[in-house]
Amino acid sequence: KNCDVSRKEIGEPKKHLLKSTKELLQSCELVLLNSGVLQGYNTTGITGACKIAPVKMLRYELKENIIMKMISRRDFLKASAVVGATAAMTACGGSSSTSTAASSVAASSAAASSAAATNGSANIGVCIYQFADNFMTLYRSDLEEYLKDMGYAVTIVDGKNDQNTQTEQINTFLQQGVDVLVINPVQTTSAQTIVDTVKPSETPIVFINREPDKSVLDSYADKCCYVGADARQSGTYQGELILETETQGDINGDGKITYIMCKGDPENIDAQYRTEYSIKALTDAGKEVECLYEYLDNWDQTTAQQDVANALSQYGDKIEVVFCNNDAMALGALQSIQQANRTVGKDIYLVGVDALAEAVQDVLDGNMTGTVLNDDVGQATAAAEATKLYVEGSKVEQYYWVDYVKVTKDNASEYVK
Ligand code: GAL
Repeated sequence: KNCDVSRKEIGEPKKHLLKSTKELLQSCELVLLNSGVLQGYNTTGITGACKIAPVKMLRYELKENIIMKMISRRDFLKASAVVGATAAMTACGGSSSTSTAASSVAASSAAASSAAATNGSANIGVCIYQFADNFMTLYRSDLEEYLKDMGYAVTIVDGKNDQNTQTEQINTFLQQGVDVLVINPVQTTSAQTIVDTVKPSETPIVFINREPDKSVLDSYADKCCYVGADARQSGTYQGELILETETQGDINGDGKITYIMCKGDPENIDAQYRTEYSIKALTDAGKEVECLYEYLDNWDQTTAQQDVANALSQYGDKIEVVFCNNDAMALGALQSIQQANRTVGKDIYLVGVDALAEAVQDVLDGNMTGTVLNDDVGQATAAAEATKLYVEGSKVEQYYWVDYVKVTKDNASEYVK
């Protein structure tokens, strides 16, 4: 298409994104960003420099010279359409893009950001299922930052992993008359009750991290959405990480992959899908698998550490792979693996999900086979954008999905936080 294409590594998005993007905007006609990561930042002063088309693309899998080939035709056409459209409009918020949820959040936000200044402030109530959760700690601090950057008053409360506590907190927020609720439910099975409680007040709800049934969202149409990541993708990536090892997971060469699984909270769809899809990736690749035991470790490091210690003494060398539904449990597993004098990459493999700083360092050091980035920045950005759309009375999609990214020794340095 005779386009000159240059690729820019943004580095750590929070710190470098604006500067890098501004530089690009000065020299390019079109900037392709993955997910909606630029949104949620105060872009005043730079958006005017160029037409920004927030396009989802496989940024992390790009090879140096094939950027344009990696972008799907649909996304490219959409990007071109956005650029065309901006000639007639002052912002690219007019894009009717629906091909990816993240990009549609991002696309809508250009229009929204100009309105924010005139709309003034709003009060946002955020309910987190439990502060004592490593990943949700990252997520909530991002979310708080982005919402405050948007000029909103934000109150964040700790559900302490107790649905009754969270329900009381929601009632308190309703009495205070918050404008939007962001809810990370303690129990997804209580999501319908939450909606029924909130509905009479017509307060919009952005559900995050723990996906309720679609019927719940449908029951409060136009006032309720979900922002999350498709956990099937993270499970598949975990399986692929094992298939990419030297022995493809079969360290002892007996023709099958023998594993244990440390699982998160059993009611949680993330735990269910990661458990299922990590193994499905192996069997889809034609591998034989044997599960020695599935442990219920509730996302918790100490519980996983104890269970893996027991497993190692019970099953010994039979264990070739330790799958953990999240990094906190993988870090616990690693402690026990090291105590048992086993060596990751040599006589055992270990994978997690989240890309917590410590786990990414372990991947770099070879102490973990790999992890999967659970994009807290992308999800918090999308949640903040959805909140903003509700505050401004704009149209909100029912679902916003943010991609996971496979993290191996080769790319881990990009994810050191
Ligand atoms: C998952 C995450 C876990 C835990 C859980 C809470 O997405 O990977 O570490 O935070 O959410 O619901």
